[in-house]
Amino acid sequence: MTNSIPQKVHDAIDRDLVLDNKKLNDVMVKFEREIKKGLSKAHHDESEVKCFVTYVQNLPMGTEKGKFLALDLGGTNFRVLLIILKGEEDYEFKSKIFAIPQSLMVGSGRDLFDHIAQCLAEFIKDMNIQNEILPLGFTFSFPCQQKGLTTGTLIKWTKGFNCSDVVEKNVVELLEEAIQRRNDIKILICAILNDTTGTLMSCAWKYQDCKIGVIIGTGSNACYVEKVRYAEWFDKPGKFDDESVIINTEFGAFGDKGSLDDIRTCFDIEVDKNSINPSNQLFEKMISGMYMGELVRLVIVKLASKGLIFNGKISKKFMQRETFFTKYISEIEHEENNVFHATKEILYELDIENPTEEDCRIVRYCCELISKRAAQLVSSGLAVLMLRIGDPKITIGVDGSVYRFHPRFHDLMTETIKQLIPSNYEFKLVLSEDGSGRGAALVAAVASKDLQ
Ligand code: GLC
Repeated sequence: MTNSIPQKVHDAIDRDLVLDNKKLNDVMVKFEREIKKGLSKAHHDESEVKCFVTYVQNLPMGTEKGKFLALDLGGTNFRVLLIILKGEEDYEFKSKIFAIPQSLMVGSGRDLFDHIAQCLAEFIKDMNIQNEILPLGFTFSFPCQQKGLTTGTLIKWTKGFNCSDVVEKNVVELLEEAIQRRNDIKILICAILNDTTGTLMSCAWKYQDCKIGVIIGTGSNACYVEKVRYAEWFDKPGKFDDESVIINTEFGAFGDKGSLDDIRTCFDIEVDKNSINPSNQLFEKMISGMYMGELVRLVIVKLASKGLIFNGKISKKFMQRETFFTKYISEIEHEENNVFHATKEILYELDIENPTEEDCRIVRYCCELISKRAAQLVSSGLAVLMLRIGDPKITIGVDGSVYRFHPRFHDLMTETIKQLIPSNYEFKLVLSEDGSGRGAALVAAVASKDLQ
């Protein structure tokens, strides 16, 4: 942490925002309790961490081959991909990014799925593959209850989405109906999956001991490989207890029934209150890219109100919600040795003129507090999953803009996890390349192999 921060600043914010190992251990105990409830039939309804069964059982071998389509909805952009898996851990892909206008994110479900189908049709024509019926993996990164690989009922929207008439519906059917309405393309939806599953699969393609997939981006969530005997919702005729299945934890909702009340701060409460889904995704709101910038802004506003930064004067722009972007945190923390070029530019952008060196140091300190807390919290969840899996050596596939672009997130996570698990456990956090695209193709590939 940065030195020479005035004691009064520490006094004003540290008590709330600094988490010690005792608090993290407490988070772990509650997290494990919620995981167990989510997996069980008897306590699922009251659980915070739903632990949805994905029906993905086989991890890829690296030898998968074939041509696949993938759709990726749920991050900052919507993407359509054509992926050619060539075996031997080699692949090629072409993709196109389409914007999803804000109005569609909170409009009618029918408009959203018509837009997706239109983008897909456009892409298929661009690629000149109208005459092939390719298997498609649909990465739909929201909480879905699955009854098989090709059905996913949306339980609730998260992040910036809130479209009408989709909750409690099978999303695969909604997509198929939209495609039929157009009647100009043919596709075969082989699987619906979460981005965490794609991340795990994409990483397992190279690292056979990968058993956890994590996203720390716009939202945050993890999936892991669980034994079928503990996954009470897994409904498959003739299943064996020693088989495994990937569980999408949806840990972003941890805390939604009170488990995090001890550590949530006035900043967290404010962020939640102003969000489009109050009282939902409380863990995610402490961790992920959609909220971290706003948390930093609120901390700085508090310091200014006490006269501890910017001489107590704050601009109108800084007072507006969501003006401090999460990417600023990465940019500010990138600067070393008390150089504050980027920090000053960002502050200038927010109409804070002539900040002092000390102001800049405090801004950086606020960023460090929020990003360290996020890394610690996500790590506590992962530590619980690692202990559940019980393998002494494991790889964790990670993706998402926060993990990718923050200069120290990886190190902070490694450090924290080490402190939370026994020393005989070995682990590696690996950036997983394109889980939502390549991972979707791999799920489709493994699924079509199962069907043969
Ligand atoms: C939200 C979604 C979850 C997704 C995560 C990361 O938490 O509910 O399904 O995996 O964001 O995109």
